[in-house]
Amino acid sequence: MTDVALHPREPQRRLLAVLPTPLVDLSNLSRALAIPRLLLKRDDLTGLETSGNKIRKLEYVIADALAEGADTLVTHGGFQSNHCRATGAVAARLGLGCRLILRSPEHPQNDGNLFLDRLFGARISLIHPAQYAIEKQQLIDAGMAEERAAGRRPYFFPVGASIPLGCWGYIRCFREILDQLGRDTPIDLFAPVSSSGTIAGLILGRALFDAQNVRVLGIPVSDSLPFFQADIRKLLDDTIAQFELGLTVNETPIDLIDGSIGEGYAIPTPAALETLKLVARTEGILLDPTYTAKAISGFLDFVKAGRVRAGALPVFVHTGGVFGLMARRDLFE
Ligand SMILES: Cc1ncc(COP(=O)(O)O)c(C=O)c1O
Repeated sequence: MTDVALHPREPQRRLLAVLPTPLVDLSNLSRALAIPRLLLKRDDLTGLETSGNKIRKLEYVIADALAEGADTLVTHGGFQSNHCRATGAVAARLGLGCRLILRSPEHPQNDGNLFLDRLFGARISLIHPAQYAIEKQQLIDAGMAEERAAGRRPYFFPVGASIPLGCWGYIRCFREILDQLGRDTPIDLFAPVSSSGTIAGLILGRALFDAQNVRVLGIPVSDSLPFFQADIRKLLDDTIAQFELGLTVNETPIDLIDGSIGEGYAIPTPAALETLKLVARTEGILLDPTYTAKAISGFLDFVKAGRVRAGALPVFVHTGGVFGLMARRDLFE
C-alpha cells in the first residue's frame, strides 16, 4: 500500500489501518424507522484486532514514536479501553513492547479488551478508580521510569491518542468520506465523543478541505456539553497551533447534541440497548454499549425529529467497540 499525501502540513504516517472503510446504506433500518436514508461509515472495519477509531489516530502517533527510536508504547485508559487494546495489538505487530495503565475494579472480568491486552503481551497495571483519579500522572511517570530502568525506550501518549498528532486520523477520515460521497453532497456527519480526538479531526477536516456543505455534529457519551465544548476547543487550538493550520474559531464550529450520556461513562442507557438490538437485528451490524449504541441512539432521535438539514445526507461514523460488547453480555441476559 502506498501513502497519499493529505495536506502539506500532514505529519508522517505509519500505515496500520485497513482503509478506506466502507460507507454503507442502512436501508433495512431506515425502512424500519420510516426514514428516507441513513448512512454508516464503517470504521468498525479498520482491522480485526485493531478495529475502531483508535487505529487511525495511532497511525500518526506511532510513526512519531518510531521516528524517535522508541521500542515501547505506554498509554492508559479504562480496563475495557478500545484504544489500549488497539495499541497492544499494534505493538505486538511491530515488535514493540507495550505498557498499559488501566483504571479498573479490583477483580475485573478477564474478557473483551482486557483479555486481548493480555493476549497481546502488554505489561498491565490495574489501578483502582479512586487512585487513578488522583495519581494518574505519578502512575504514568512511574511506568515510564520502570521501562527506562529496564533498558527500554518508552514513548507515552494519552488516553484515546486524542492529541494534535492523533487528530490527523480523522482529518484523513473526513477526506475519505468526501471522496466517497462527492464534494457536492450536503452531509450531516455525526460521531460519538469521549476523548474528543475523533470529532476534533472531523471538524478540522471540514475546515481544511473547505467543505462548507458538511455539518459536523458530535454526540457526547461520557461528560457534559460544557465540558466537551472546552475540551474539544482546546484540542482544536493546540492542533491548529502545532501544525500552523491558520484556522479560526469561526471556521471550526463545535456542534454537540445532548441527551445520550445517561448516568455517565460506560453506564448504558435503556434506549442505547434497544438501539443496539435493533441495529443487530435489522442490519447484522454490532454496536457497543459504551460509545456507539448511545451515540447512534442520539443520532436516530435527531433524524426522527426532523433536525437534519433539508437535502443533507445523515452519515454516522461507526467508531467500533465490538470487544467491549463481548465483555457486557450480562446486559442482554
Ligand atoms: C468505540 C469507541 N467509539 C468512540 C470513542 C470516542 O472517540 P474519541 O475518544 O475520539 O472522542 C471511543 C473512545 O473513546 C471508542 O472506543
